[in-house]
Amino acid sequence: MSDLIARDQKAVWHPFTPLKGDYPLQALESAEGVYLYTTDGKKVLDGISSWWVNTLGHSNPVLAKALNDQALKLEHVIFAGFTHEPAVRLSEELLKKLPESHSKVFFSDDGSTAVEVGIKMTIQYWRNLQKPDRNQIIAIDGAYHGDTFGAMAVGERGLFSEAFHQLLFPVEFLPYPDGTNDGEVLEMMEDLCSSGNVASFIYEPLVQGAAGMRMYSPELLSQLFDICKKYDVLTIADEVFTGFYRTGKFLASYYVDYSPDIICLSKALTAGMLPMSVTTASRRVAKVFESEVLEHTFFHGHSFTANPLGCAVALKSLELLDSPEIQDQLDMIYRHQAEFKERNEGRSGVKQIQSLGTILAIELDSGKTTYFNNIRVTIYNYFMDRGILLRPLGNVIYFLPPYVTTEEEINFVHRAIEEFLDEKF
Ligand SMILES: Cc1ncc(COP(=O)(O)O)c(C=O)c1O
Repeated sequence: MSDLIARDQKAVWHPFTPLKGDYPLQALESAEGVYLYTTDGKKVLDGISSWWVNTLGHSNPVLAKALNDQALKLEHVIFAGFTHEPAVRLSEELLKKLPESHSKVFFSDDGSTAVEVGIKMTIQYWRNLQKPDRNQIIAIDGAYHGDTFGAMAVGERGLFSEAFHQLLFPVEFLPYPDGTNDGEVLEMMEDLCSSGNVASFIYEPLVQGAAGMRMYSPELLSQLFDICKKYDVLTIADEVFTGFYRTGKFLASYYVDYSPDIICLSKALTAGMLPMSVTTASRRVAKVFESEVLEHTFFHGHSFTANPLGCAVALKSLELLDSPEIQDQLDMIYRHQAEFKERNEGRSGVKQIQSLGTILAIELDSGKTTYFNNIRVTIYNYFMDRGILLRPLGNVIYFLPPYVTTEEEINFVHRAIEEFLDEKF
């Protein structure tokens, strides 16, 4: 065991990892582009964009320069009573890329807090309108919106949040729209919304990431929005995972002809270099907070709200994402992922393959589809031995490359997955 790992095990508590037992841990020396370099000399291709955040490659020098320049100018300031160019410009640039109806950007630190802010805004929206009883939230079975209390409440009530179930506020869950139950999903939505007590509907547009990259149809989502419109229910698009071209469009919401009232963004916002998130609000929502009544204020904030370093990196990242080089890269990745799906559909050992934009997900025909399916350990080790980081969601292998991954590297990972399927099934 390396010295760093021994020291880690004495002092550090890792996420989603039991404190006792034998769990793989790699000590890293550095990272560059799509590669992670371990202290014992291994080179590992990051096939999951390091928890879905890294779009422009590790230790990206252009982003590092933006960070450094900003650090030497203004590194942090309280964001109540102060503002700065990076925050204002980032808000302006983001609003240009968001639905025309959006007018305000609220900053926080990560995906979970972006969701907390979104939920709180919709509840207070109705309270400001003198309708405090309109406070029920609708979510979708299997959802993952983060690990803070509000985010847990609107997420799947499974093992991850089990210790806290008694303390989570009640939420109505629609069945997951698996393509066979649209009628049931829509009927339940109509029943719930017609009660007049629903504040908002929160959803991961088109792809439930943590649930196993489960994808559902834009048509169904569109029908759910029709019901929201009919009963004046606010909508919160959790684009924390799906934003910034992950699904083939800047937002997954752009697959549907409807503008959500609130949009949550994080992960790729800073290309993975710094923790930051935003919750954006439509004019309709913002208007209800434009009031001189003190109680109508949105009393929420974090120490690092709109940190100038994060804003400067996010601005540079937005610029790079829209460069012809990255747009060409994205087209190449979309094409290869779709071709992999076509080539391997119906293959033995595969229950289902799904692909949307840069996302490729292969559900293996191997026991129950759950995060805790033991095959995940076999899969993780198999690919690590070949120098590829793929961290399956149970029996779902997914490949989610940083956008700077080359065609050769994409083919290399695809071949490794095909070899795995040949060997194991
Ligand atoms: C859709 C979605 N929402 C929210 C979150 C929570 O984000 P964070 O881990 O940054 O708190 C995640 C994280 O995976 C996510 O996938």
